[in-house]
Amino acid sequence: MNGKRILLIIGGGIAAYKACELVRLIRKQGGDVTCVLTEGGAHFVTAMTLAALSENPVHTTLWDLKNEVEMGHIQLSRQADLVVVCPATADLMARMAGGIANDLATTLLLATDKPVLAIPAMNVRMWQHPATVRNVATLRGDGVAVMQPDEGAMACGEFGPGRLPEPVVIAAEIARMLGTATGPLSGKHVLITAGPTHEPIDPVRYIANRSSGKQGFAIAAAAAQAGAKVTLVAGPVNLDTPQGVTRINVETARQMAAAVDAALPADVAIMVAAVADWRSAGEAVQKIKKDGSGQVPPLQLVENPDILATLCKSDRRPQLVVGFAAETNDVLDHARAKLARKGADWIVANDVATHAMGGEINGLHIVSAAGVESLPELPKAAAAAALIERIANALA
Ligand code: CTP
Repeated sequence: MNGKRILLIIGGGIAAYKACELVRLIRKQGGDVTCVLTEGGAHFVTAMTLAALSENPVHTTLWDLKNEVEMGHIQLSRQADLVVVCPATADLMARMAGGIANDLATTLLLATDKPVLAIPAMNVRMWQHPATVRNVATLRGDGVAVMQPDEGAMACGEFGPGRLPEPVVIAAEIARMLGTATGPLSGKHVLITAGPTHEPIDPVRYIANRSSGKQGFAIAAAAAQAGAKVTLVAGPVNLDTPQGVTRINVETARQMAAAVDAALPADVAIMVAAVADWRSAGEAVQKIKKDGSGQVPPLQLVENPDILATLCKSDRRPQLVVGFAAETNDVLDHARAKLARKGADWIVANDVATHAMGGEINGLHIVSAAGVESLPELPKAAAAAALIERIANALA
């Protein structure tokens, strides 16, 4: 971790004991770690243990006169390269989401201008409680990276999501956020679109397609695992955000186009989304009603912007642009035509007549000026890993 400075806030939960192991791993990987122990955290681990492992003083209170003369809490929050909250308890996240600053930890979190990574750990019912769900959504909206807890048997005897991920996994995420992760795509920004778009007709109806988003999300996960900074612009799908991926939710093609533009510059763009080619010419403000005459209302369509083609022509065009093509017939011919028409470097074609959209398996063909490489039929995660490997090789 190249001497980068991590401020580690330890909340009051049984998983706090794993924070000791995390401190050891950060030190082993060359990071500098300063611990802040909440009052609750101090019931589970001691300041002595953390000081010995981190080789730094441990901070526990806001009311330390010596520190406050130097505005210690402001300094602590600004000196760090990354602030990590581990374990992030339901209470700590609720206070963070509410902007409450009633102890040293929450004051630091409110005062910091550095990226924050929260690693929740709690009982499954607490994790699934609407209040926690709401607080996590608020934190993510505020730009806090909230890791997904693991699923399994818990200290309280229950089973489900809420376990702290293994310290090695947390350390890898810290390295990724610090930009010190090593992987074939480390230091690269990969921009991915995924899922369908919804084009409203009126407040209750929309035009959509059968894209599930699974392949695009799997590619985002594989790119993050390869060490890339990943921005995933996602249409309306009900999928968890892969670890280490920044997700931007959109609904329409025009919103997707704007989100892609805002996410630039990128080194690689992989446009997996099934963007609706057309939208309704005029979205009705009120629900369109049957008038009893048997007449069908006219549905006038207009063309949506072509996000891929626009990106290829842009003066901020990424070094490698990859498009996707879901085809039902003449797969390779259509893919070659799209490669030329859109100006992409590669078109990844899949036959949705053989592998229906939404399934778990894909047979991808990578079409480029160099020819065609057909991958075997693979589960979507494996197909994603194979594609990311080829992308990393192309950039090397
Ligand atoms: N694409 C896009 N913006 C659009 C339409 C498509 O960015 N408005 C991208 C898709 O994300 C994909 C590629 O272009 O990477 C090919 O999409 P596809 O829908 O197959 O291409 P179309 O040009 O719409 O061709 P078709 O006539 O087969 O629908």
